[in-house]
Amino acid sequence: MISLPSLPVDNTNRVASGITRSKAWNLLLQYNKEPFHLQHAQTVEAVMLYFARTLGYEDESLFWGLVGLLHDLDFEMFPDQHCIKTKEILEQEHVNSELIRAIMSHAYGMRSYTQPEHTMEKILYATDELTGLIGATVLMRPSKSTLDLKVSSVKKKFKDKKFAAGCSRDVIENGANMLGWELDYLIAETIKAMQEMEVESSKN
Ligand SMILES: [Fe+2]
Ligand SMILES: [Fe+2]
Repeated sequence: MISLPSLPVDNTNRVASGITRSKAWNLLLQYNKEPFHLQHAQTVEAVMLYFARTLGYEDESLFWGLVGLLHDLDFEMFPDQHCIKTKEILEQEHVNSELIRAIMSHAYGMRSYTQPEHTMEKILYATDELTGLIGATVLMRPSKSTLDLKVSSVKKKFKDKKFAAGCSRDVIENGANMLGWELDYLIAETIKAMQEMEVESSKN
């Protein structure tokens, strides 16, 4: 497990990411071939962009989105070295150490000792597993869509520990607590973020 230093108080570094969106996307394609992983990366990116906007961090949007897009960069090829390899790869690419730190914090308590501190990191930590649970819930529905999805439906699946057992309920709950949010609010906002993504991608 690895531990990285705390964040500075100002957000200067979180605006300069050290990598462009298109370069990050190409890097993702270099290390990920399975549509599931590419989809997850794009979903978490969209969720991060939604929260950057709605929580008043619009000036950091690119940074938040990149954190989401790259957070599982190494998982498909190096599942046993998850986070460690991402750190190596991103350091080679001269990506901002702040961005690397934020990515490490999503695996806090599992693969890293780096605790989520900034709101951006807490959002990543709280929504990573939740997007998986919401995605699995959607697949069970006739519409296969988030657009008619209710918080109560996700809550029902949240309580059914056998359903999508790989999505850690503890992490989701810890994430909501870190943010000081009710679980229902976190779920409702994440559904909204995924609805926005679905509407946007249907236009393309
Ligand atoms: Fe991960
Ligand atoms: Fe993830």
